Amino acid sequence: MRKFVLAALAVLSFTGVAVAQNFPSRPITIIVPFSAGGPSDAMARILGERMKLALGEAVLVENVTGAAGSIGVGRAVRSAPDGYTISFGHLGTHVANGAIYKLGYDLVTDLEPVALLPSNPMVIVSKNAVPAKSLKEFLEWLKTRPEPATAGTAGAGSGSHIAGLYLENITGIKLQYVPYRGTGPAMNDLVAGQIDLIVDQLSNSITQIRAGNIRAYAVTDSRRAESAPDIPTADEAGVPGFFMTLWSGLWVPKDTPKEIVAKLNAAAVDALNDPAVRKQLENLGLQMPSKDKQSPQALGDWQKAEIAKWWPMIKAANVKVD
Ligand code: MLT
Repeated sequence: MRKFVLAALAVLSFTGVAVAQNFPSRPITIIVPFSAGGPSDAMARILGERMKLALGEAVLVENVTGAAGSIGVGRAVRSAPDGYTISFGHLGTHVANGAIYKLGYDLVTDLEPVALLPSNPMVIVSKNAVPAKSLKEFLEWLKTRPEPATAGTAGAGSGSHIAGLYLENITGIKLQYVPYRGTGPAMNDLVAGQIDLIVDQLSNSITQIRAGNIRAYAVTDSRRAESAPDIPTADEAGVPGFFMTLWSGLWVPKDTPKEIVAKLNAAAVDALNDPAVRKQLENLGLQMPSKDKQSPQALGDWQKAEIAKWWPMIKAANVKVD
C-alpha cells in the first residue's frame, strides 16, 4: 500500500512538473477589477504587453468591475489554479476590502502572491471651478460649504476611498462619496465638473493635471514626485503626516504550482526592469519596487504587514457598504 501511495505521488508530481514546463501554451488573462482607462488598467496593460515577450503567449486584460474590485478578485480566486488567470490588485482590493466586505474568500490563504508592482502616492485634486489656490484654501472651502463636497471613488474600500477617509480623519472635514467602477470614469466626471474632488492615485491624475484640466493641491508622500515636482507634499501644504502609498501586485489562485508562479514572477520582474517600460511607468509618477521586494515571498510578507497596519483604522472608520 505504501509503495502504491509513493508511486501515485511520484506520478502526480511528475505531471505537475510537466504541466509547469509546458506553461504557458495559450493566452493568459489578467483580471483587472476596475474600469478600463483607470490607473490599475493602465499599469496592467503596460506590464502585460511586455510580459508576453518572456512568456511567449499573449497576456490579455479583462476588466471585471464592481464592489471596489472585490468581484473581480473573487472571479480570479475561483478560477483554475493553472496560471492562466492572474488577479491584479492593490492596497484596496487585497488589503482594505478584507476589513469591509464579507468576501467569501481569504485574501491571504486563497491566493498565491506573484509579484509586487509599482507604487504611487495619492494626490488631492479638485475640479477647476473650485476657487482655491492652495491646500489650505481648499480645506477652508470644504469646511465652509453648507453641504459636504462630492468626492469620486472607485467604491467603498478602493484606494481613492481609503485615502478620502484618511483625509477626513486627519483634517476633520466631511465628504460625500460618489462611487464609480474605477477612478477612470470618476476622473471624466471631475474634468467635466460633475464632482468636486478625488483623492486619487497620482498615475491617474497626472495627465489631467499637466493639461490644466484639474487642480492639484498636495501629494501624500514625504517627498515631491519627480514626475510632478510643482505639487507640494502634504507636509509642505499644511496637512503634516498625511502619507499614503498605493502599491499594486499580481496574485494567482492558491494551489497554483510553484514553478508556474516562478515563471509568472520572472516575466513580471523582466517587464519591470525593461527601460522602456520603466520610462512609461515613471512618467505616470509610479515608483518601481526595489530588487529585494520583487519575489513572491516579498509580496506575501508586504501584504500581511499592510493588513496589520490598515485593518484597525478601516474597521474603526466603520465603513458602510450599500
Ligand atoms: C482604478 O483602477 O480605478 C483604481 O485603482 C481605483 C482605486 O482604487 O481608487
